[in-house]
Amino acid sequence: MDRIRIVGGNELTGSIPISGAKNAALPLMIASLLTDDTLTLENVPHLADVEQLIRILGNHGVDYSVNGRREKQQEGYARTINFTARSIVDTTAPYELVSKMRASFWVIGPLLARMGEARVSLPGGCAIGTRPVDLFIEGLQKLGAEIDIDSGYINARAPNGRLTGNRYVFPKVSVGATHVLMMAASLAKGETVLENAAREPEIVNLADCLNAMGAKIHGAGTETITIDGVDSLSGARHAVIPDRIETGTYAMAVAMTGGDVTLENARPDLLQGALDVIAQTGAEIIPVNSGIRVKRNGAGISPVDITTEPFPGFPTDLQAQFMGLMTMAEGKSRITETIFENRFMHVQELARLGAHITLAGQTAIVEGVSKLKGAPVMATDLRASVSLVIAGLAAEGETTVNRVYHLDRGFERLEEKLSGCGATIERISA
Ligand code: UD1
Repeated sequence: MDRIRIVGGNELTGSIPISGAKNAALPLMIASLLTDDTLTLENVPHLADVEQLIRILGNHGVDYSVNGRREKQQEGYARTINFTARSIVDTTAPYELVSKMRASFWVIGPLLARMGEARVSLPGGCAIGTRPVDLFIEGLQKLGAEIDIDSGYINARAPNGRLTGNRYVFPKVSVGATHVLMMAASLAKGETVLENAAREPEIVNLADCLNAMGAKIHGAGTETITIDGVDSLSGARHAVIPDRIETGTYAMAVAMTGGDVTLENARPDLLQGALDVIAQTGAEIIPVNSGIRVKRNGAGISPVDITTEPFPGFPTDLQAQFMGLMTMAEGKSRITETIFENRFMHVQELARLGAHITLAGQTAIVEGVSKLKGAPVMATDLRASVSLVIAGLAAEGETTVNRVYHLDRGFERLEEKLSGCGATIERISA
């Protein structure tokens, strides 16, 4: 298994190209199931999760081709990929595939809307909490789906082959369930109103793409989304937005090591809340034409309390990285996780680097230390792994991060981007 070796202590200086967002690319790719025409997606990141979803969609009948192969462009290695689901050859998403990537469960929406039926495995447990699917089931039932669960599978059927528009109030904000209901309602008969919908930028990116395909969606990015169902959708060309989690991660890395880095292609509006928090820690955040410049010179890191919330609040996907930053703050900070239970697995590993953190329920109390010391560490999820990389960059001596496959799921060319800014970081292949 590959490892990442870091020798900490260097400031970061230079520029880092921000890739297309994993969490936007995945639902956009799934939307290709809604049409027999070609959906062309630009700025698709080269990540293990994207490759895995390509295989899963292939199982349902989606062909793909990469335009112009993998070219080195200014933005990095952004790819343009054509997805075509001329016909759906299988409406079953088996356990072997869904259990590998939870987001592949989302095929339930487009399959049901286009084919009138879907049989999709329950995703099962996950390293960051139980992550149930009750909202997907309840929402699809509101659109008329008949659903039963047997042997770990959800069998869903639309009476007379088509879903029907309705009003659904999400009892809890869910990104995935909002994606799925928006896709399903696009091909339903009549109007759907989704209340208490997720407002994440990835939701807006998907709605824009569906509208380019001929859907009639209004209000994406607000709590209320209205969808006028249409009979069919066509192909389109659409760009994946820049990754706000990658942006925030590298901004926190600079805030921790010190230095001056421009995050090329980054969009401040996608993570303003998080940028404000990073600024409060003492880093300078400067919007520039090409992206966002992050600087920190000399001064110490100020402690800041945060609570994770749905967008536009502080994202749970930046919580672990922020905790990494706070381990070296000049004082005490409180980090409260409200989105996922059990999302503090990085605490024990950060402690191995010398961090002082105590847990009280959903809150971590971080007592800043003046220095961290490198050590072998390992993480059990994507964002936790990258928090250890950030801490390793600031720690004295050598840190090895094991189980690199977590990082490969969501961070494109991580070691190349960081070493390009002066970090001593390399991948050691097993
Ligand atoms: C997406 C992101 C993930 C991010 C999360 C929250 C992708 C591929 N993943 O995950 O990186 O951390 O949003 O911003 O975009 N819930 C239920 N019932 C349901 C569905 C969800 O109780 O039917 C709960 C979850 O357990 C969780 C909360 O709702 O506690 C939010 O989850 P959700 O927004 O659905 O996360 P994902 O879409 O899985």
